[in-house]
Amino acid sequence: MLKAQDNEDLTRVGPGTIMGDYLRRFWTPILEASELPGPDCDPAEVRILGENLVAFRDSAGQLGLLQALCPHRQAPLFYGRNEEGGLRCIYHGWKFDITGRILDLPNEPPDSPVKNTIRAKSYPVREWGGVVWAYLGPADKQPEIPQLEWGTLPPSGRQIIKYVQRCNWVQALEGDIDSSHVSFLHTKLDPKGNRVGYNQQSVGYVMRDKHPKIEVVPTDYGLMIGARRDAEEDSYYWRISQWLLPYYTLIGGDLDGKLGFGEMYVPIDDTHTMVWCPRWSAGGPFTEEQRRRNIEGPDAAVRTLDPVTGELRASKANHFLQDRLLQRNYSFSGILGVREQDTAVAEGMGAIVDRTQEHLVQGDAAIVAMRRTLLGNARALRDGEEPPAAAQGSLYRVRAWSAILPRTTVSFTQDPKMPVRLALADA
Ligand code: FES
Ligand SMILES: [Fe+2]
Repeated sequence: MLKAQDNEDLTRVGPGTIMGDYLRRFWTPILEASELPGPDCDPAEVRILGENLVAFRDSAGQLGLLQALCPHRQAPLFYGRNEEGGLRCIYHGWKFDITGRILDLPNEPPDSPVKNTIRAKSYPVREWGGVVWAYLGPADKQPEIPQLEWGTLPPSGRQIIKYVQRCNWVQALEGDIDSSHVSFLHTKLDPKGNRVGYNQQSVGYVMRDKHPKIEVVPTDYGLMIGARRDAEEDSYYWRISQWLLPYYTLIGGDLDGKLGFGEMYVPIDDTHTMVWCPRWSAGGPFTEEQRRRNIEGPDAAVRTLDPVTGELRASKANHFLQDRLLQRNYSFSGILGVREQDTAVAEGMGAIVDRTQEHLVQGDAAIVAMRRTLLGNARALRDGEEPPAAAQGSLYRVRAWSAILPRTTVSFTQDPKMPVRLALADA
């Protein structure tokens, strides 16, 4: 459990909060690059860390990110005309370049001083790995973009799905670093009502051993989280996930380790989170079949994404389409879709979960460590210590993995192949 003040400090992201200030030291993923497809394309509305913004590309294709409302009389710049090197407000025609400078002020005399004294607030923007990133922190502290593996691959080797979750980013993130819930929430039932697992090879181990031993190893970029389950008489099954500051996860998947997956829990505001679900194939391009399977069919992570709204059709209002017959006979939760299952429990906790009411157990060790790290880092920044991980994008060049190791191995860090499994080839 957390004290009420710690819960506030951990979760709030607006300007001037300690976590908000901390998150603003990192580059923030805001859009897929394809949402701003080319020069003078339609602008995009962005809400991030509680700030309303508008993103666009100018006639030269350069990215800009401005305050959402025009500095004149607060009309939405999103409705603006994107033309000849800037975005023009449709209310009285003020026009801004990507840095927020006024290019044209047609409802004022030519000698008006306003042109040089007023600016729209703007933030630096970059494109990397098919994603548009924004930096909302102090200009002289600009960090590096985290070199996450999917971003280093060609577009044919990655696929990104994203959707809005209606709850605070930390409780959404906690689901991903909680290795013990996969023995329950995401499992299916056999005809006799027994749970039969959520994926292929490792299913048996995850199903048999429901109270994994959690080993948490602090790193420069966050935490390595090992979940150890009994495998055979003389071996353990280890599933090692990564939590990377501030809200990235890499999940230890199947034993062959060819396909990568993880999430990015980017705060829209205190009570909404953009959940990005990158899926990638380090061994070559995704086949069409793999690509389809990520979004369709019985094993798709996201089953009810509405492409128009960007939200799940399964929601709190319809009890996440839970089917009680399905729950009795086919699945532990009765909810279709892994992400829908995670979202149902995270949103169901309330917009910001009251952590003073929890009763944590051994299986929650990684969650405790993650909270401590985030709170410690945010308070250190408040006291003048800049976050080192933000400044070193190369720290993020790591993988998650799974392994069968002998029972004599007390820590996953003794895995002799760890350096190979962890390291990315040079992009
Ligand atoms: S409100 Fe934008 S030009 Fe007047
Ligand atoms: Fe989950």
